[in-house]
Amino acid sequence: MMIKKIVKKHGNKKENLLQILHDIQSQNPKSYITEEDINTLSREMIISVSEIKGTASFYTMFSFTPRGKYIIRVCESPPCHILGAQTIFEAIESKLGVKAGETTDDGLFTLEGTSCLGICGVAPAMMINDEAYGNLNEEKIYKILGQIQEKEGGKA
Ligand code: FES
Repeated sequence: MMIKKIVKKHGNKKENLLQILHDIQSQNPKSYITEEDINTLSREMIISVSEIKGTASFYTMFSFTPRGKYIIRVCESPPCHILGAQTIFEAIESKLGVKAGETTDDGLFTLEGTSCLGICGVAPAMMINDEAYGNLNEEKIYKILGQIQEKEGGKA
């Protein structure tokens, strides 16, 4: 039903597929696209399941597994890489106990790598959901994550 509505809103042309997938993912509280979503979408748009999966898996912003409430995307493109993206990953991994691609046991955070976020001037950079953070270092990471944990139930 929900998917029907989303398809109707954008029109069931192939060129709208990305926008439709984006909306489907956003309305899922765990920010992912389910198998059932894809099957329904395939029927609604008359596009094969494998084509939808192929398109979606090309983009790192789409996920087929449940994700945390906060999706941390650390930029791995060269400018950020040179200025220490690896250290940023390690700081997050040690603070949250997850590796890239994993979600914390409390379902709060998912850690992912991404290509350039368009804020290379403040490299190394990351985004948490829609919020961008730059000029990162270990200390800043601990502070940002600690603030979120505190807000979510005093686990800092
Ligand atoms: S290279 Fe990291 S934001 Fe552009």
